[in-house]
Amino acid sequence: MKQYPNVTIFDHPLIKHKVAILRDKNTKTKEFRELVEEITTLMTYEAFKDVPTRTVEVETPLETTEQTMVCENSVAIIPVLRAGLGMVNGVHTLFPTAKVGHIGMYRDEETLEPKEYYCKLPEGIESRVAVILDPMLATGGSAVAAIDMLKKKGCKHIKLMSIIAAPEGIKTVAETYPDVKIYVSTCDRCLNEHGYILPGLGDAGDRLFGTK
Ligand code: PRP
Ligand code: URA
Repeated sequence: MKQYPNVTIFDHPLIKHKVAILRDKNTKTKEFRELVEEITTLMTYEAFKDVPTRTVEVETPLETTEQTMVCENSVAIIPVLRAGLGMVNGVHTLFPTAKVGHIGMYRDEETLEPKEYYCKLPEGIESRVAVILDPMLATGGSAVAAIDMLKKKGCKHIKLMSIIAAPEGIKTVAETYPDVKIYVSTCDRCLNEHGYILPGLGDAGDRLFGTK
């Protein structure tokens, strides 16, 4: 696949290990949910190497020292319903005070076009780094629509984090929005005729919430 400067594909054995268990059809809902959170935390650690920071004075028992802390208010977490909800706690582990906005979207099963049904974003979204969460980046239609929504609200700094991506989805998002930073833990082979990622993990929403 073509390399894109705005795309990071994690190639880390600890993440690969967890993704392997996630893919397994015998992995049950509870473990699936826990793994999605853990993988998200590991991805967040790397994806936020550029998080805005501030200098603070700290008094140790011995002296006063200048230290670096994160500007926590600079980040907004934006899960795409439903499956993105499973990743929220994984980011909150590292950004406990980050505000959360929700984008409701589902894919039409026939056309694979995204259908929007909800959008509620935190105040001041335009000045925050918005990280869109969706475990699956398949055709890329949902991610492009989510990015469109954020841009219409004035958002200038957008990241997208997905656990599993298809090459088609990466290409679509990376080429449509070269300014959006895309982080995926793995890039799979292709999409099947129903728009599912192969080898993938099946339907992320159903596996997270036990709906099938
Ligand atoms: C899944 C997934 C993404 C979308 C990806 O959601 O969570 O939002 O499909 O596909 P795309 O890249 O081809 O747009 P789905 O539509 O199944 O909705 P759900 O989370 O409510 O089940
Ligand atoms: N949505 C999913 O949940 N899984 C896929 O493989 C593709 C889209």
